[in-house]
Amino acid sequence: MAVLPILCYPDPRLHTVARPVQAVDARIQTLVADMLATMYDAQGIGLAATQVDVHERVVVIDVSEEHNQPLVLVNPEITWASPETQINDEGCLSVPGIYDGVERASAIKVTALDGEGRSRTLEAEGLLAVCIQHEMDHLLGKVFVEYLSPLKRNRIKTKMLKARRDTAKA
Ligand code: NI
Repeated sequence: MAVLPILCYPDPRLHTVARPVQAVDARIQTLVADMLATMYDAQGIGLAATQVDVHERVVVIDVSEEHNQPLVLVNPEITWASPETQINDEGCLSVPGIYDGVERASAIKVTALDGEGRSRTLEAEGLLAVCIQHEMDHLLGKVFVEYLSPLKRNRIKTKMLKARRDTAKA
């Protein structure tokens, strides 16, 4: 297992649309293991392959308090979304230190392959539903700050670029 570098907004590679995984083979299983290691290392609750510059439809999530219930979603598709929505503050490992409200469906149904390539369906609500929708946006090249006003987004962009310059100088 390896901890992979995470792309930071506004890196243009975060806007790449991921392609479907052809087969859950050893290469994908290594990617999943590395993504889980990367997510836990960064103390995140979700990570999309896009964020580690791999543009295939793979997501890992763990919203458990003990960080011991990894969920692997390969080629996830939302088959149902509740008309009810909720607004939650979201954060993202690719936009460190930024949290803001995003409106999402309160409950969803998802089909996906697991880490062994088995097809599964799951129903999610609350934090898990938010997290799945957030990570699936990454696979479409969308970062949560794109839901915010242009003014807020530009402020975040400036802040991220400044932080990167400061890191480069340090
Ligand atoms: Ni994210």
